[in-house]
Amino acid sequence: MMTTTTKEDILIEALPYIQRYEGKTFVIKYGGAAMTDLDLQESFAKDVTLLKKIGINIIIVHGGGKAITDLSGKLGLETRFHNGHRYTDSETLSSVVMTLVGTTNKDIVRLINRNGGSAVGLSGMDGGLLRARKFLFNGIDLGFVGEVESVNTKFIELLLSNGSIPVIAPVGVGADGEMYNINADLAAASIASALNAEKLFYMTDTEGILIDGELIPTLTSDKAKQYIAAGTIAGGMVPKVQTSFDAIEKGVKKVHIINGTALHSILLEIFTNVGVGTQIIKSEKPAQPIPRVREKKEDFLDFSELTRQGLYELFHLADKLRKELELRPLAGKSISLIFQKPSLRTRISFEVGIAQLGGIPIVLNNETIGLGVRESAHDVAKVLSRYNDAIIARVFDHSLLTDLASNASVPVVNALSDLLHPCQILADVYTLYEQNLLRPGMKIVFIGDGNNVANSWIEFAGIFPMHFVLAAPEGFEPDPSIMQKAIAAGISTIEILRNPVEAARNADVLYTDVWTSMGQEEEKSKRIAAFEGFTISEDLLQIASPECVVMHCLPAHRGEEITDEAITGVQSVIFEQAENRLHIQKALLCSLFGADEGLQLRRFPADATTEYEKTTTTIPA
Ligand code: CP
Ligand code: NVA
Repeated sequence: MMTTTTKEDILIEALPYIQRYEGKTFVIKYGGAAMTDLDLQESFAKDVTLLKKIGINIIIVHGGGKAITDLSGKLGLETRFHNGHRYTDSETLSSVVMTLVGTTNKDIVRLINRNGGSAVGLSGMDGGLLRARKFLFNGIDLGFVGEVESVNTKFIELLLSNGSIPVIAPVGVGADGEMYNINADLAAASIASALNAEKLFYMTDTEGILIDGELIPTLTSDKAKQYIAAGTIAGGMVPKVQTSFDAIEKGVKKVHIINGTALHSILLEIFTNVGVGTQIIKSEKPAQPIPRVREKKEDFLDFSELTRQGLYELFHLADKLRKELELRPLAGKSISLIFQKPSLRTRISFEVGIAQLGGIPIVLNNETIGLGVRESAHDVAKVLSRYNDAIIARVFDHSLLTDLASNASVPVVNALSDLLHPCQILADVYTLYEQNLLRPGMKIVFIGDGNNVANSWIEFAGIFPMHFVLAAPEGFEPDPSIMQKAIAAGISTIEILRNPVEAARNADVLYTDVWTSMGQEEEKSKRIAAFEGFTISEDLLQIASPECVVMHCLPAHRGEEITDEAITGVQSVIFEQAENRLHIQKALLCSLFGADEGLQLRRFPADATTEYEKTTTTIPA
């Protein structure tokens, strides 16, 4: 069936682009036929005025080659070029300033303003806009030809914030006050780079980049380099394309080489799905190669495999991953997440984290697979290992996790069991590190039930020196074998007290968790009675160290284990803990896959602790 494109279709096609580019910066190098033909001039002025009106910041950098050559001819000056750079002696420089700054610049300003825009004409000398230095082309002195040393972006931003369209003649000023004639393509690229522009446009007299007569709509910088090396891109296009790579490397998102001899080429390039010219974009970083699994499959069920050195490596990796969101070390990997219990943070942070790293998360709730009921953990592990690259599981009985781990050929991660919640403690400790609070010997006071979260803290005290105090009523102690092992490690002091006030004295951290964990709902009223007085409140905070932070793994029961004020007070880092689940678990997954090796991380020497742990407090006997 034939379809016709209506005016409405065209407007609607433009809508997402209009939304996307509002507030963004476009730098346009204006030159060639678009500057000399009257219809093309009008079309250009209308295009830039429209772009400005819909909220795009427009900066125009113009050439003026033909006018300079004409005037130079009239003045009897010889015109010579070296690779697109005009040989500029002092007479030629005068003719550059007269035409470029004096006439051409003002003509463009008048043209735009006549079409409803608000253009302001200036040269690179005004306000030190383009600070330049002498440019030598392959060691050849071309006279007063300059290259951009720096751009006064503040000045440009001031004009933009005022609603103006700066129209810039590329004549720069040197440190010595000397004027320099700058190639307009290079000046536009420098300005676009300095402003981290969304787009840089080169208006040329050709359709774009043609390969074997065919217009190439999109070209990556790597592919373009290959074409240049093979001579497929040649002549005057080469410096333009090379300048484009440079601009992209320095932060410009895309460079568009468009046909200035066609009416409204800028609008068509921006607001239509196919565009009309060639866009040059950064080459994708190759996916990081990941060894399938390490020599020995690594699980994360508890802290038995984690060292203090490994802990800092994870922190470092988390720092890197949260900054470099383009990294995809889990590309092509899929991970199943099994949930026998409800979850907000664990599920979302793993699901989002895996997707951000390029992997595919598959969430399986227990009704779907019936772990240990419909099918044994042994069989689930064997089957999932054939589809997935890791298994993450939240279970009631910890032995289900050990069964999964011993039968899976892929890493298994503990997303909470009745016994332990190590991912939570990793996020908690990363939060302390991030806030510059993590210190060996610090006093962590856990007020509440000796549950999975408390057990993981105690296990952690076996690898990181601390004074850990659990304040719990009788009958709510942590797991004895975890206690014994942590004490045997001999680096921390671990105490169980019955009095929360006594426990909280000089605490660096006051931590709590629900009194009734998932699966214990029937004991709720018994527990509420037993834990009376074990609430983290502003009063308890008074007893702690003045710098004490309040932590809670969430979900919280306000008014039971913690007051509303303590959750929302200035000493609370509770929501930072929640956010850090995402960052540290991403690091954990990369490390389990050995993907951290592909990310070229700094390896920490075995005695790395001193670098990070500058203040050592005395560990109580
Ligand atoms: N803290 C924590 O594990 O939260 P969820 O139970 O919501 O995952
Ligand atoms: N101890 C709590 C932790 C929730 C994240 C529970 O197991 O329900």
